[in-house]
Amino acid sequence: MKSRNTIIGLFSLFVVANAYAQRKPHLDSKKTIEERITLLMNEMTVEEKVGQMNQYNWSWDVTGPAPKGGVSKLKLDHLRQGWVGSLLSVRGAKEVRAVQKIAVEETRLGIPLIIGFDVIHGYKTLSPIPLAEAASWDLEAIRKSTAIAAAEASAAGINWAFGPNVDISRDPRWGRIMEAAGEDPYLGSKIATARVKGFQGDNLAENNTIAACAKHFAAYGFVESGREYNTVDISNATLYNVVLPPFKAAKDAGVRTMMNAFNLLNGIPATSNSFLQRDILKGKWDFDGFVVSDWASIKETVTHGFAKDGSEAVQKSVMAGSDMDMESYLYVAELVKLVNDKKVKIELVDDAVRRILRVKYELGLFDDPYKYCDEAREKTTIGSQFNNEGVLDMAKKSIVLLKNENQLLPLKKSGQKIALIGALANDKTSPLGSWRIASNDNTAVSVLEGMQKYKGNQLTYDKGTDVTVGKTTFVQELEFNTTDKSGFEAAKNAAQNADVVVMVLGEHGFQSGEGRSRTNIDLPGNQQELLEEIFKVNKNIVLVLNNGRPLTIPWASENIPTIVEAWQLGTQSGNAIAEVLYGDYNPSGKLPISFPRNVGQIPIYYNHFGTGRPVNSDTNVFWSHYSDVENTPLYVFGHGLSYTSFGYSNLKINKAVFEKDEPVKVSVTVTNTGKYEGKEVVQLYIRDLNGSLVRPVKELKGFELVNLKIGETKIINFTLTNAELGFFDNNGNYLVESGMFKVFVGTNSNDVLESEFELK
Ligand code: NOJ
Repeated sequence: MKSRNTIIGLFSLFVVANAYAQRKPHLDSKKTIEERITLLMNEMTVEEKVGQMNQYNWSWDVTGPAPKGGVSKLKLDHLRQGWVGSLLSVRGAKEVRAVQKIAVEETRLGIPLIIGFDVIHGYKTLSPIPLAEAASWDLEAIRKSTAIAAAEASAAGINWAFGPNVDISRDPRWGRIMEAAGEDPYLGSKIATARVKGFQGDNLAENNTIAACAKHFAAYGFVESGREYNTVDISNATLYNVVLPPFKAAKDAGVRTMMNAFNLLNGIPATSNSFLQRDILKGKWDFDGFVVSDWASIKETVTHGFAKDGSEAVQKSVMAGSDMDMESYLYVAELVKLVNDKKVKIELVDDAVRRILRVKYELGLFDDPYKYCDEAREKTTIGSQFNNEGVLDMAKKSIVLLKNENQLLPLKKSGQKIALIGALANDKTSPLGSWRIASNDNTAVSVLEGMQKYKGNQLTYDKGTDVTVGKTTFVQELEFNTTDKSGFEAAKNAAQNADVVVMVLGEHGFQSGEGRSRTNIDLPGNQQELLEEIFKVNKNIVLVLNNGRPLTIPWASENIPTIVEAWQLGTQSGNAIAEVLYGDYNPSGKLPISFPRNVGQIPIYYNHFGTGRPVNSDTNVFWSHYSDVENTPLYVFGHGLSYTSFGYSNLKINKAVFEKDEPVKVSVTVTNTGKYEGKEVVQLYIRDLNGSLVRPVKELKGFELVNLKIGETKIINFTLTNAELGFFDNNGNYLVESGMFKVFVGTNSNDVLESEFELK
């Protein structure tokens, strides 16, 4: 009886849906998406079209300058009128259902909303910050960790992630360096691909995949002097060869949206930049998704001094290809008039709307607007054991062993007195980083908790000093630099009596991220002083760094025997760190970014150009150097140790001379020469020795993550093709030029074997 009722129920649903589809032909799923869009657009007024291009921030999760009062009513009115195409930051299956219901049931055409959210490294169960994940060089792990983020976000009603951030940056002063993949365009491109696949899966219409958004288009990572929202002025060759490759990789991986950027690029705001958005992205690259502005960046083109008022800002931004306005309130205010006055062609509006609707159709929102609003799924998915295991795995893979003299690590599991010191060791909030809107304070596993699980040793804990002063929140400027030394003495006493001291020092989670640039990137506050004081009483220190950017730690690097870069590792941080310290996981991370010796060296990056007077020039003082510090970074790009050691030999290239289209085959032998099984990232770099544009001294063009048992040897093969051997000139032409190439293979960008070949 029950099943008969179900059949009747389903049948009537089908009949109703069918009738509905006949009345609203754009809902007919037998038609192609493009046909459905055309049918729908035929019904739309200009106001409704412009409405699709309008995005509002909805709730308490303000991630930009907060709008002044009275806005919510305006937003609600606009939503009811069908003048809103997207909301950001509304979250939760129930909450999203409520707003979706208004869009679908109360507006004339019932077009569903696309719901965006800053899913930067997870939703509630957080994986490591993106810079840390990049240190794993493990593309499959990164894809999986992003898929966990997508699963959780989609279960909370969200169908569009404002990620991945694919901004290449060479400036650790910039707070958002934590949010992307570091300094290298090749590694950055591979990771961009992995992240897009992680968010979008193979089928966007599945309910656990969401649209990705490559951001910030373009060159935001090159803000002058690392100061947030600052100007960018770079050559076109740098734009094409360094900045754009990860965006192109994201596009090729099928990314459905891109976000433009706050910065000027060579005098023109990225948001109103036709060269970027029309010529390159939608022209040359034939991108058929849509572009969303950054928060109020359309309005800010007036502040930049590019547009004279809001109306001109809209005109310039639409013409330049910004399809959706995030929180400027300007498209909805100005665009209809601009169209009526023939100052913006309706075809441009139509093109933008078609792009936006396309993504909504692909997500399946027209077929079921509530598909992401399943409260039961929300309960079982968010915070699941599977997700926690996944982010733990990612966290372990993201840790980089910078130094391990005297083999202080791994720690012995019994009979040891261990003094754990540092406020960050007992901090359950900082490991979550600054982009963790849906995740509550105090929800990460602390290092103290992680280490307490190993019961064989005697563990004491003292904070020594604080990292912050006062309460910390996302939207407020914080006081960080405490001078209080009242905790030093207790920490010193504990250290004096210990076999090994583990010190967890670094940055608070809110010291990096958006709006958090710093000119001094030493250990903040009096942590350096604490470190030196402890060192006086016990030299067996394992320094664990928690930070969102490279720090300048020359003293520690010289004096402290063991240093572990553990970034901000997310929800499972303390468990991951403890497993690495105790050797249950052998670290294999490699730096995706150079660590400077001091801020004066910045920008410092491995793939720089040579100078006419490099090191070893035959002159006393007139060569390219500083008189107070070496040219080299403290830790080079690609650096990272293991508890075992690896030997490299037999670098071979299959021939000496190649034709242009011939693949160049490179092989190298790698052996585990140490006492532990371990993983190594084998890295291949090239140098094009002379070109019509000078090429960098080294460029990463291949890597492989390989697992080797004790004593095991493997031959690793790489193939170089035109895709790796060429470069872009200042006009964006891709050139593969004849000449000599060097090939380097090794354990980091500095310690390499070397060979060469000729390209005819
Ligand atoms: C501004 C940030 O630059 C961007 O990355 C983010 O997605 C938006 N705010 C929305 O929060």
